[in-house]
Amino acid sequence: MLKFPKDFIWGTATSSYQIEGAATEDGRAWSIWDAHAHTPGRTYNNAHADVACDHYHRFREDVQLMADMGLKAYRFSISWSRVQPDGQGDVNPKGIQFYSDLIDELLAHGITPWVTLYHWDLPLAIQMERDGWLNPEIADMFAQYADICFGHFGDRVKHWITLNEPWVVSILGFGEGVFAPGRKSKNEPYLVAHQLLRAHGKAVLLYRKKYQAVQNGKIGITNNCDWREPLTNSRADRDAAQRSLEFFLGWFADPIYLGDYPQAMKDRVGARLPTLTPEDIALIHGSSDFFGLNHYTGSYAADVDPNENIRNEVYGNGGIFEDQYVQLSTDPQWKTTSMNWAILPWGCRKLIEWISQRYGNPPLYITENGCALDDQLEKGEVKDTVRKEYIESYLAACHQAIENGVNLKGYFVWSFMDNFEWALGYSKRFGIHYVDYDTLERTPKHSALWYREVIKNNGFEFSISHTQI
Ligand code: GAL
Repeated sequence: MLKFPKDFIWGTATSSYQIEGAATEDGRAWSIWDAHAHTPGRTYNNAHADVACDHYHRFREDVQLMADMGLKAYRFSISWSRVQPDGQGDVNPKGIQFYSDLIDELLAHGITPWVTLYHWDLPLAIQMERDGWLNPEIADMFAQYADICFGHFGDRVKHWITLNEPWVVSILGFGEGVFAPGRKSKNEPYLVAHQLLRAHGKAVLLYRKKYQAVQNGKIGITNNCDWREPLTNSRADRDAAQRSLEFFLGWFADPIYLGDYPQAMKDRVGARLPTLTPEDIALIHGSSDFFGLNHYTGSYAADVDPNENIRNEVYGNGGIFEDQYVQLSTDPQWKTTSMNWAILPWGCRKLIEWISQRYGNPPLYITENGCALDDQLEKGEVKDTVRKEYIESYLAACHQAIENGVNLKGYFVWSFMDNFEWALGYSKRFGIHYVDYDTLERTPKHSALWYREVIKNNGFEFSISHTQI
């Protein structure tokens, strides 16, 4: 039996735009994701999330399902344009009411809310009228919005996450242009990342000054990172793997934990990487009470000679290639999910050990981990054995990391239920609850039933011990 530490947090996660629906109801205004998804050709089958899982109307039923599985914590995000439609100025009382009711419902069922302030759905007005994340003033706009949330919900919410995955916002939103706001640039990702860090820092400073002493909560940020395994044991490949992790995670975590961008980035990006001024550093350095990590997969990393004309093979997911010169690849033997992401539990262990070592073993939470599969609902059941084994093997790897000294304190499955998977629309199912998009009926999958037992026992019997962790 793999037993987890006492008080280990067992959770699941979702985000506002992916599940809520009610896109223009009760005063909510559009976000950049509403606009992006409603622009033809931007999402699979032109899907949007006007209805999504209709969680806005069904949240009590959803909380009941969470209670049924004995969930300890639920991570959700607030739709900025639901509580402050223009992203500045007036607050929407019905938006406040919705999140307030959701929080009360969770607490009434003994489930701790973990609240993300920004999971990619910027109010469209800020994008159109104020240039969104490219505008240095956005840090103040974000802090004002955060102030509204702390003020209304902070009496009951004790775990805050400022931003979800700034890397995705920067690279997929402004580099590759596959996510909202759909821009393609080699420079903007660095500018946007800089403003994301400043916005995070301002919100944290505000929380610490105005609320933390009274409300007694914790605040942090969630970054995402895949593991990078050196392709060979050569010095060049080991350096490439390290460089790749620094461009991916160090980009955001180094300023917060070490007070500056990684040296490899400064050397390679040069003047295109903004400088952190002493004021920025004062704001950002030390601005996280815990380390939030979203992690799914990994790849090999190898050094590339800049004179060779080689491109990344791995789903373009490495950041700006020309700045790194790291070739990513996978082993055809590795099993994959329906995202085509490799299932690599040992990569999870190595990554959290890398984090723990580089950043001084901070309290760490895996705020997302999970697996998309081509699930079938048959006779009221979804036999998602691969998902159960995915979660089981990743948890076994986490357990091993804890034994090795990593200060991992919680784990959230992505996702509580199937939902709108961004550019891939409804074509990918990540949930441990199946959602029938015609009837909106929810069904716990076998993985949810298994996870319920894990929570109950604070551990599990590792049934696939031949798996490398
Ligand atoms: C994360 C993201 C989630 C979810 C998940 C699966 O990057 O935070 O919103 O979509 O990936 O792709």
